[in-house]
Amino acid sequence: MIMGTWPDDYDLNDTPEIGARIIAFIQDEMHRLEEYDNKRPQGSGLAYVFHTHSYRVAQDIKDTCLYMGLGDLVAENMYWATLPHDIGKRMLPVEIWNETEEQPSADLKNLRRSHTDLGAAIVKEELGDIDHPFINLMTDIMRYHHEQMNGKGYHGLSGDMLSMPVRLAAIVEAFDGWRIKRPHYGDRDISVPGVLKRMREEKGAAHFDMKLFEPFAEMKMREP
Ligand SMILES: [Fe+2]
Ligand SMILES: [Fe+2]
Repeated sequence: MIMGTWPDDYDLNDTPEIGARIIAFIQDEMHRLEEYDNKRPQGSGLAYVFHTHSYRVAQDIKDTCLYMGLGDLVAENMYWATLPHDIGKRMLPVEIWNETEEQPSADLKNLRRSHTDLGAAIVKEELGDIDHPFINLMTDIMRYHHEQMNGKGYHGLSGDMLSMPVRLAAIVEAFDGWRIKRPHYGDRDISVPGVLKRMREEKGAAHFDMKLFEPFAEMKMREP
């Protein structure tokens, strides 16, 4: 269903009309996500800002693709396909993201994770008339970036059902989320090596595709 590998066989610039419409859609949605972030209660300072998280994740994906030698075209397509992965969050009430000292309940977690399907619904609504493989890539990443290799993620899809781009997005997006200091983390180490260690030793192959995790981790450790 969502097999498929790295997007190296199309360039959005080669189909200017479709490409420009897709990019405009993504930019518009990123503005909406920023407006949504601005509506969220600031309290003692909002740590997990969704639109800035999204830009960091997209940049990390791009850098990882380049680091793995997948080439500029794949890196560029992956950047744009990943940037809007959390746009569905704006469809949910702002209060549900408020941080607490306790772990969020399972119900709250599921409600939060429904942003994956809500985002895919926005894409369908706005770009459903376009038949282009990029739309499928972007929608897969949006819908499945909270899956786990062991099938215990939001939709219960196991690793063999997840494409390489989706597996990489799941890694990079989790890393960025865990780098942000949140009240329920207590005194957890959120440094780059600390988060990578936690991902490797506590989550590991049950959660992530380690063949993609290691190049990502290597790239992050080499960053200045
Ligand atoms: Fe997400
Ligand atoms: Fe995210």
